Amino acid sequence: SSGQSRYSYEEYKETADWLLAHTKNRPKVAIICGSGLGGLADLLDDRTVFQYKDIPRFPTSTVQGHAGQLVFGKLKDSECVCMQGRFHFYEGYCINTVTYPVRVFFLLGVETLIVTNAAGGLNGSFSVGDIMLIKDHINMPGFAGQNPLCGHNDVRFGVRFPCMSDAYDRDLTALAKKTAEEQGCGNFLREGVYCMLAGPTYETIAECRALQTLGADAVGMSTVPEVVVARHCGLRVLGLSLITNKAVMDYESKEKANHEEVLKTTERRAKVLQELVRQLVTQL
Ligand code: 6GU
Repeated sequence: SSGQSRYSYEEYKETADWLLAHTKNRPKVAIICGSGLGGLADLLDDRTVFQYKDIPRFPTSTVQGHAGQLVFGKLKDSECVCMQGRFHFYEGYCINTVTYPVRVFFLLGVETLIVTNAAGGLNGSFSVGDIMLIKDHINMPGFAGQNPLCGHNDVRFGVRFPCMSDAYDRDLTALAKKTAEEQGCGNFLREGVYCMLAGPTYETIAECRALQTLGADAVGMSTVPEVVVARHCGLRVLGLSLITNKAVMDYESKEKANHEEVLKTTERRAKVLQELVRQLVTQL
């Protein structure tokens, strides 16, 4: 349920220690793959794969179309761990469950988190298929009391009142931009503000207009809780949104936000996004 459920340091530690005992990989980079973007995990070499259900205390995913596994391995010389399938708040997980893996990554020794997602474009200059580097976010569930850091603060993870004005690492973002240009996708690379809503409904027209007024360039249903928890424990973060559809902004439009279009665009662009993340990781 979405009621608060908290985990102790020891629980995260038990999961991390079990993983460290069951793989020789020592990842410095963790990648959370958005829906339909899990193909990246298939590119890893020297893989060790764990089903979520086999990892002590790890949340399990029930949703169709998500592999539900943690893949350790190498992209060239960089050791990585990929989440193939993430936990969404709209599935009914409490916010601390959504972010459980991030603290496990921290305890594994991960230093950098890369998150990808599918998002609706609010910025009128964006096109379907664009890739948006996330430069900042709006934590709408946080406005409504659903911040994963609510409750007791364990200083072994981070401070009580963490700064979020530097959530998305400037150097990593610049590197992503450079890599995208070298790779020939600079012409559809954008930069902007990602707004998370809880979902699962898509936005009304009035909501889209409101979000645009608030300064959001893209809207989605994930990522922000994971980023908040990652920044709390000092991980460097890079966020990438694939603009899978355009948010509907006017009452004359015949367009309707729908999951099929999201999936279709994801399929079309998955390879490019994967290749971008791959090239990037090898340069870290
Ligand atoms: Cl239009 N809205 C939300 N909330 N999430 C999305 C989306 C829209 N398109 C892809 N994911």
